[in-house]
Amino acid sequence: MSKLSQLLCLADLDRNQLNDILTLAVEIKRNPTQFSSALAGKSIALLFEKPSLRTRVSFDVGINKLGGHSVYLDLQNGAMGVRESVQDFGSNLACWTDAIVARVFSQKTLIELAHSSKKPVINALSDLYHPCQALADLLTLHEQFGELDKVHLAFVGDGNNVCHSLMLGAAIMGMDLTVITPPGFGPDAHVLLKAQQMAAKSGAKLILSQHLSSAAGVDAIYTDTWLSMGAKADPKQVGQLFADYQINTAAMQRLAVKHFMHCLPAHRGQEVTSEVLDSDYSLVLQQAENRMHAQNAVLVSLFS
Ligand code: CP
Ligand code: NVA
Repeated sequence: MSKLSQLLCLADLDRNQLNDILTLAVEIKRNPTQFSSALAGKSIALLFEKPSLRTRVSFDVGINKLGGHSVYLDLQNGAMGVRESVQDFGSNLACWTDAIVARVFSQKTLIELAHSSKKPVINALSDLYHPCQALADLLTLHEQFGELDKVHLAFVGDGNNVCHSLMLGAAIMGMDLTVITPPGFGPDAHVLLKAQQMAAKSGAKLILSQHLSSAAGVDAIYTDTWLSMGAKADPKQVGQLFADYQINTAAMQRLAVKHFMHCLPAHRGQEVTSEVLDSDYSLVLQQAENRMHAQNAVLVSLFS
């Protein structure tokens, strides 16, 4: 497979590269011991400006399973760019580590890190994107339904980082995606344009709607928190604006949809009810497990 140089956004990948990563992820999941020294001698910095459970643990454990070593840095004692510049942070980390996995407030910080570090940077979530999550989600959809260009997913809720990465992933892979958001909470215009351009090439249908009824008959409904980390909106107001977009059993039945997805953490009783989250509809733990396999495929392809 072709070598990856970084993963700041899924638009860094073409359809062949994305396909290769998913195929490799399936192989790593099926036969992990075959990859147990893929990262031997490699050290990877895990840099987090925001909290995390799944991303932190799946990278740490995943790197260990590939025979590599990880160094976790949280920035609770000072944000990046305060004690020293992002540029100095990146150039110093590159002296000792082979790659940087970073969860940051701003996509601009990732771009600056990538410029200054001369080592591959992987986006572990930013304000704009969550590519590692979308890779795990595409892997989950592939396991569930087979060929992605025959799948139709609906994303419901805030047009946020997770929504953006799903839009790009779907557009690259020729998968149909309906994005359903309340008025004023649609996806970023630049990301939308990029996804539309990619969809025109792959044949993916990208549909925007403000009505939950547009999810009728899709293969799976995906939702995420109504308020992302770092978002400044008033939670009470957001709760009112998003109330009609809650995924509950009545909605799943009315829309005749059999599968439910969420990147987690979930806010039970807000964007999704416990009844749906814990039901047979739910693919959320498969998605969580697949974070590690998809990320390990990215890491292996960085160093192959
Ligand atoms: N889905 C996800 O990225 O979870 P964490 O915020 O716990 O890493
Ligand atoms: N959209 C959420 C995803 C968390 C994994 C956030 O950015 O907080």
